This record gives sequence, structure tokens and C-alpha cells, in this order.
Amino acid sequence: MKVLANDGIATSGVVALEKAGFEVILKTVAQEQLINFINEKELDVLLVRSATEVRKDLIDACPSLKIIGRGGVGMDNIDVEYAKSKGIKVINTPAASSHSVAELVFAHLFGMVRFLHDSNQNMPLEGDIKFKELKKAYAKGIELKGKTIGILGFGRIGQATAKVALGVGMKVVAFDPFIDSAHIELKFYDGQTVNFTIDTISKENVLEQADFISLHVPAQDGYVISTSEFNMMKKGAGIVNAARGGVIDEVALIKAIKDGIISNAALDVFENEPSPEIQLLMNKNISLTPHIGAATKEAQNRIGEELATQIISILE
Ligand SMILES: NC(=O)c1ccc[n+]([C@@H]2O[C@H](COP(=O)([O-])OP(=O)(O)OC[C@H]3O[C@@H](n4cnc5c(N)ncnc54)[C@H](O)[C@@H]3O)[C@@H](O)[C@H]2O)c1
Repeated sequence: MKVLANDGIATSGVVALEKAGFEVILKTVAQEQLINFINEKELDVLLVRSATEVRKDLIDACPSLKIIGRGGVGMDNIDVEYAKSKGIKVINTPAASSHSVAELVFAHLFGMVRFLHDSNQNMPLEGDIKFKELKKAYAKGIELKGKTIGILGFGRIGQATAKVALGVGMKVVAFDPFIDSAHIELKFYDGQTVNFTIDTISKENVLEQADFISLHVPAQDGYVISTSEFNMMKKGAGIVNAARGGVIDEVALIKAIKDGIISNAALDVFENEPSPEIQLLMNKNISLTPHIGAATKEAQNRIGEELATQIISILE
């Protein structure tokens, strides 16, 4: 059995597949040469991330394919239903990166409340000559402990974020139109566990109560947070979007920051990726990362292992 990991796969996945007798080809074949390559090598499995497109033409032209695998969550680059209708199994690894995204949310939150994103820019420039001025500028930080985080979208990543928040000592409130209640188990290094049940509440109540909002919803028609939602929030709240570009109205966000409704924001995802608006990039109240929520070594290893386990169980 032959597997092409066209957008790469962690070594953990290669090792597991090779151990089970699969040949793993770690090569990035250009999109226009992919059909020929798959047919020449008579590949059984095509693994992709977000770069390679797996459309109807490829599915029709490559009869040897038995599995299409996506390392990660979104399958926008694969014609999933069409592949299934042709008897091809389509697999992904939806849970593998949840904790990585949750930790990035907290990297932003911890940084935001102590102005680290701004301090990290100004200390190299002026830290030697304006130390006292900068010390004063960044003196009014706050703690996360004891504050309320409002989670919009209480699925895998929303619940992973709740776990980190509970560990930090925050109160968690959440809204999800499809989840009434979630059981959250915090596991500690020594085997102890602490259990929480979090009943979701209305979106309005979350917006009114939260000191910080974190979005964990899928891409959808229309904004989840726009002017009317910003107007419901506590004055000076913080907001993080590590979900999808387009769930926060970025123009309304800039205005909410200017009007003092939002004190700090963090964005990992942008409406206009990969060219985010300059007004966002230049705003000193926004902590920024270039869509790296899932990009940890641990998540990539889990993705590789999960793909390997699924492939082996399907083709065995
Ligand atoms: N930043 C990154 O690198 C990164 C990495 C992985 C996933 N993501 C994104 O994170 C988001 C969440 O992923 P997940 O794995 O938790 O998905 P999930 O499907 O497990 O959870 C999403 C939840 O959002 C809820 N929801 C849908 N519309 C909603 C709305 N309008 N308001 C409130 N809740 C709503 C759904 O009912 C669901 O429970 C997705 O958009 C995903 O693409 C980002």
C-alpha cells in the first residue's frame, strides 16, 4: 500500500505507517502533476493539509485512491461528498489541535493584559533610553485569575479553552446554539482530576458578563461579532479570534477599540488572509499571529499518529 503525504506529515505518522507495512512518499507534487503521479505510482492514500486541492477531476482520474486524508480540521480543499459517493473514505483529525489553539488563546490573553505585544516592540527600540517611561506605560496590567471568559462556540476548541481558563482560575461562561451543557474534566500531572459541568447561556448574557471573549465557531454566513455585539460587551473587554477570519467584523473591531469598548484584541485569523488589513496590523491594541493556532509540534505529532491509526484500521 502506498501513501503520498503531499503537504507533509509528522515523523510519528510516517513511523506508524511504515511499521504497518505502508510505503510513505514524502514529496510535494505540484497540483498540475498530481493526477499523473498518483496514477503512475498507483497510490492508495493521498494525505493533504490545506495546500493541495482534491477536486472532482482528480477523484475521477485516480481510480487507485481508497483514502483521502486531511491533517487538521477544515476540508474546504477536498470535494468530500463527491469522494464519498465514489467509495473513497475521507478522514481528518478534528481533535488533534484543540489544545494547541487553546494555549495560543491564552498566550495572547496573558500577553494582552500585560501589554507584552507592545512592550516587545518598544523595548528593543527604546528600552535602554526610555526604560522608566516604558515601565510607566505598561504599569497598569491586570490578572486573568478571577476574571470571566466568555466562550462563543463550545465545541472541541471552545471546551479545550475552558479547561485552560479553569486551570488559570477564571470563571467560564459559554454560548453554543447546539450544545446545552458540557462536562469538562481537568486532568493534573499527578493523576488527580477535577470535574466541571458548564451549562451554556444566551449569547447576550455571555457578552454582558465576560471580561474576555474568545471565539471558537466555524466559518459562517455573516459576522458572529459586529457593532451590535460590541455594544453589548463590558466596557474595556478583551476579545480573541483564533477561529476563522470573517467571524469578527474587523471594521467594527477597529471602531470598538477606538471607542474604548474593547481595550485589547488578539487575532490569529483574518478576513483577508494572507494579506490582513494594515489598520489591524498597525493597531497597538491588537496582539497578532499569522494563523498558527494548530501549529505546534505536539499537534502535528497527534495529527500524524491519528491519520496513521485511521488508515491502518480502514485498510487492514
Ligand atoms: N487558529 C487556528 O489555527 C485554528 C486551528 C484549528 C481550528 N480552528 C478553527 O476553530 C473553530 C472551532 O473549531 P472546533 O474544532 O472547536 O469546531 P467544533 O465543530 O468542535 O465546534 C464549533 C462549535 O461552534 C458552535 N457554533 C456554530 N455556530 C455558532 C454561533 N454562531 N455561535 C456560537 N456557537 C456556534 C457549534 O455548535 C460547535 O459546537 C473552527 O472555525 C476552526 O476552523 C482554527
